[in-house]
Formats: sequence, C-alpha cells, structure tokens
Amino acid sequence: MNTSRSLKILFLSAEVVPFAKTGGLADVAGSLPKAIRALGHDIRIAMPRYGRVSPDRFDLRPKLDPFPVPLDDMEEPASILEGHIGEDVPVYFVENARLFDREGIYMYPDDAERFIFYCRAALEMCRQMGWRPDVIHCNDWHTAIIPNWMQTVYRDDPFFKDTATLYTIHNLAYQGIFGYRVLEIAGLEEYGFIAHPDLAPDLNDVVDLMARGILFADIINTVSERYAREILTPEFGERLDPILRDRRDRLFGVLNGIDYEVFNPATDPHIASRFDSDHLEARRPNKAALQREAGLPEREDIPLIGAISRLSDQKGFDLIAEIIDAWMQHVPSQFILLGTGEQRYHELFEGIQERYPDRVAVFLTFNAPLAQRIYAGTDMFLMPSRFEPCGLGQMIAMHYGSVPIVRATGGLADTVRDYDPRTGEGNGFSFKSYDALALYAALVRAVETFKYRDVWRRLMLRGMRADFSWQRSARKYVDLYYRAIATRRGAHRPEEYPTWRRDGTAERMGGHQVVEDEGESNRGV
Ligand code: GLC
Repeated sequence: MNTSRSLKILFLSAEVVPFAKTGGLADVAGSLPKAIRALGHDIRIAMPRYGRVSPDRFDLRPKLDPFPVPLDDMEEPASILEGHIGEDVPVYFVENARLFDREGIYMYPDDAERFIFYCRAALEMCRQMGWRPDVIHCNDWHTAIIPNWMQTVYRDDPFFKDTATLYTIHNLAYQGIFGYRVLEIAGLEEYGFIAHPDLAPDLNDVVDLMARGILFADIINTVSERYAREILTPEFGERLDPILRDRRDRLFGVLNGIDYEVFNPATDPHIASRFDSDHLEARRPNKAALQREAGLPEREDIPLIGAISRLSDQKGFDLIAEIIDAWMQHVPSQFILLGTGEQRYHELFEGIQERYPDRVAVFLTFNAPLAQRIYAGTDMFLMPSRFEPCGLGQMIAMHYGSVPIVRATGGLADTVRDYDPRTGEGNGFSFKSYDALALYAALVRAVETFKYRDVWRRLMLRGMRADFSWQRSARKYVDLYYRAIATRRGAHRPEEYPTWRRDGTAERMGGHQVVEDEGESNRGV
C-alpha cells in the first residue's frame, strides 16, 4: 500500500481544548491533530457547539447553512460553524440549538440522542462539503456509533464505502450505556441487539456504545501500550474484556503526548520565573511563589508535593485518604491539591486542610494557570491511580521538573521508571500494588531521596529532557490510519464478527482481520 499519500482524516471528539474540556480527552483532541497536520495530512475536527463555545470569543465563521440530518424516524437540521486550532487545523462545530445550546457538556437525560445527532451531522457535513474522509478517527463512547454505522447503514453508501474507522479508547470506565430506544434514534433497529456469549447477561440487554465501537471499528487503540494489555483482563476490562480479547489482533497502544506549545516552562506566561533544563536555578522562585499563593510556610528545605486531578476513585484518592494522617505526622512535607470531583472527596480534603493548615492547601476548583504554577513550583507530583489509560499530568510534571510519584499502571507505568539507588536509574517513584502502605512507602522513599540534592537534580533533569512531544505518537497514529484503510478495503483475511442476535436468533456477520504486519512501530497486543 502507498503509505506516503496525504490522508483526509475526520477527527471526532466531544471535547477539544480550548473550546470545551472536562478531562484529558480534550487535551489530546486539541493537540494530536496539530501534530498529524504537521506530517502533511488533511485532518479536520468536528465537535458540537455547546452553549459555552462563544462564536465571538473564538471567531467562528458560518460554514454550512442548515441541512437535514436523519434522527429517529425524522430529520433534524444542523448547521456548521468553522473555527480552528493551531495555524491550520479546521474545527467544525455542529450547531443545533435544541440539543447543544445548554450550559454543560454531558449529563443530560437525552445524551444518547445528542451525541448520535452530532455524529450523524458530522458525516452528512462531509457529504455536503464533498470532502470524503479516508479515515474517521473516533474517540470514546460519544462517537462510538460511527463504526457501527460504517459496517451497516453506510456499508454500501457510495460516498462512505471506502471510509475506514479508528476507534480510540481514552477511558473504558465511561461506556455510554442506554436502552433499546437508542437503536431507533440511530436508525439501527433492523440490526438489533448484539450479544456476546462471554459478556455479562445484563450487558447483552443494553446498548453499550463503547462496546459497539470496539466491535465494529476497523482498528482500535488505547492511549498507552500497558493499558492496551491491561484491558484484556477482568481487572481492567470494565466488563468488556471478553470482546476486547476477541479483537486483540486489531487493538494497539499509542502513548499520548503533551502539547509543548502550551506546556513549556521556558515560555509559560503563568509562572513566576521561566526556566529550562539549562537554567534550573531559575525554577526556584516558583516554589516560593506557590507556597505564598497557597498560604503555606515558605520553606525551601521541605518537599512540596502536588496533585492535580479529578477527585475520583480512579485517581487513587481513597489511598491518599487512608494515609493522610500518618503522612502529615511522620513525613515532613507540604501538600497542595487542585481539582474537583466527588462530593465526599471535597469534604474529606476540606477537613484535612483544617486539620493541617500549615501543611496542606486545597483548591477545589478547575484553574489552568494555577495548574501550571503547581507543575512549575512543586518538587514532586502525586498520581496514585487505580487505573490510568495514559495520564497527562505525570508527563507535564516531569517536563516542568516535578518528580512523579505514581502507581505503576497503564500510561504511568509506561512513562515513570522507579528510581533505583543502587544503579542510579529511574526518573521518579512508583509502587505496584494498589495499597495504602505501598503508596506510603513510595512517598517516604521520595522524601528521603529529596535530601540528596545531586541525586534529586539528576531526577529532575531526566524528566525535563525526556521527549513527551506528540511527534512520535502522531506517526504511529498515521500508521494506524493506513492499517484501518487496508482493513476497510478488505485487503485482509475475512473473519467473523461476534454473534448478533436479532429477535432471539443468533447470526454471524462477515468482517475483516489484519494478517500482514506492516511495521514494527505498531504491534497488536
Ligand atoms: C482519560 C484517561 C487518561 C488519559 C486521557 C487522554 O482522561 O483517564 O488517562 O490520559 O483520557 O487520553
């Protein structure tokens, strides 16, 4: 196959920085396409225009007048506004006042309808523009209906018959689970439910959009190699591991990058003192400034530990809660936390701040400039996640010279190597079992190591000099695009999709499987 041709890629994500963000998905969607564009491909993004995306603020221009989009047994109009990220990546905003002109992004009772409409409108938009994508790159459950459509209602559509799909899993914990009604909304009722013999029975009785993305995409990937292997097991598979194992020959792991234009300590406008790995002494004032901002005593000799996170169990806050008293009483250090999330963690950390006002500062909010000051001003960065598909915080922290303390899981395991005092190797501290004592031991090791200034300096520099840019990963994504195209065109051995159940009868449907290996850079897991 000719792999030097420039590709047309439609990139679909429900959130994209700087327009709308609730998590790391938005960071990826706001930076990966720029790196793919830089490799010479025509990549364009489409997302809904939520009420909060102000056309004035982002200078959005009308692109397409209202056109009809099939929805349920009717049609609903969509129009398109155009903005951009970077110099030259177009972002198309799907506009429909009834569905999107609301305060928030998710958590509405009609979310299934909203995101199905967005996906369908994005496809019909391509047709309206006469722009035929080679690949549609779908991300997370909000866009997972597209691979399902491509293998059914659009299979023989002259416009889309050669369009391949790549489905990227950012977080398997959010699957988009709905009732049968969703199939009617999506125009898929004649294809019925999907049943897989190894799935829990209750999952076979619902429409799980994430599962459909996995079952129908030409190629699937997740955001680190380790997580791609982990999700094949019941521990990490979020109950979808049986179908992931079925599809493992087309499942890949590609580590995320971070946006070096946004996260660069040498140019960061939000920090007190700019620095880089050749001017490490210029980093110091950031710690003092952060301690002042947080109302903590200005102490250079005490390690300042940061965490920036959604406050949820996924992120290991139950472990922190378990050890916090012992930590505060026996490990000389300061702790600063930024994030929002589950109410019980808000209460817990407010209580901890009251108990240890000189040691702990808690900001229960979302604040991007403060986040950058935390990356720049802390000595250590804590991420004890239960599971972590990739994690961006640890990479940003390392790039800013804050040494990570993480649980060795998913992308954290792929980016942080535990410091070994005998060999001097490593770039951070990590622990294996999800256990409060293991976390505590890692904290103590980090705080002890901090006393050896030369060792610490080496750890900082190693993190700062590592390459977490998107360049390498963007090339891997392009490989996956070519692979998806080959699969769509049936260049590979036909295989069978898992069992379908229509009116209680089992059937099988033909699909395709990649058999040839096109390079070392990407390997199925
Ligand atoms: C999700 C995952 C996180 C990942 C991000 C971007 O938020 O939880 O680990 O870094 O998506 O892929």
